[in-house]
Amino acid sequence: MHTPGTLITSRPLDEYCGLFGLTRAALVALPGPVLDCPGGAAGLTAEARELGVTVIATDPAYAAPLPELTALARAGRDSMAARLATAPDRHLPSTHLRPERYLRSWDRARRLFAADSVARPERYVAAALPRLPFADGSFALTLSAYLLFAYPELFPPEQQLAGLLELVRVTAPDGEVRVHPLHDGAARPCPHLSRLRFALGERRVASEITRFARPGDGRTRRVLVLRRVGR
Ligand SMILES: C[S@@+](CC[C@H](N)C(=O)[O-])C[C@H]1O[C@@H](n2cnc3c(N)ncnc32)[C@H](O)[C@@H]1O
Repeated sequence: MHTPGTLITSRPLDEYCGLFGLTRAALVALPGPVLDCPGGAAGLTAEARELGVTVIATDPAYAAPLPELTALARAGRDSMAARLATAPDRHLPSTHLRPERYLRSWDRARRLFAADSVARPERYVAAALPRLPFADGSFALTLSAYLLFAYPELFPPEQQLAGLLELVRVTAPDGEVRVHPLHDGAARPCPHLSRLRFALGERRVASEITRFARPGDGRTRRVLVLRRVGR
């Protein structure tokens, strides 16, 4: 069900690629499926299928009926429109993009999500971190956008650690987990990230922070990359 306080957003595949330093070719070259957690009303699963890439999306909101979910996704879009009106620079994935065009990309992603989740419901799994219904090592790559650090009120440090470990568990030993952003909704960086990374290391999970450039102004985005040690 919908988690109060979270937005259901509809990012398209290209935005995911920009956030996580991926390309379509890199997705196609992966040796196995991708997990998108949380999937929200993103277009990633539907658009990747067109490329022949299997993406499984998981989100507790998928327990809701589709009309309710798409209404929440439209509200998420309207909330982003309001944010763009006051701070476009902070929210646009590229400075080359105009707010209207960016919002249209969300509208398209939301429509693709709605059609695909009806056509292929097995790719949209209702579940919530820190417990996912997937076997160990199921995915070649796991992406987690706008959840664990974006909503610290829902994920205190021990829940963040449990969530990150669960994402690692369902990812193949030679795969990786990528998490973004590492700040909350007010752009405040996670104050205990070093302690979290230390705790991950104690559990044989290596972490690094990779920076990917935002097109247009060269500003970088930080992505937490996790891999099992001794793979
Ligand atoms: C801001 S959206 C991000 C969606 C997508 N990754 C994107 O970037 O467009 C946050 C999503 O997290 C989901 N969510 C809330 N609690 C969750 C949990 N415990 N585990 C997984 N997803 C959760 C919400 O339902 C919502 O769809």
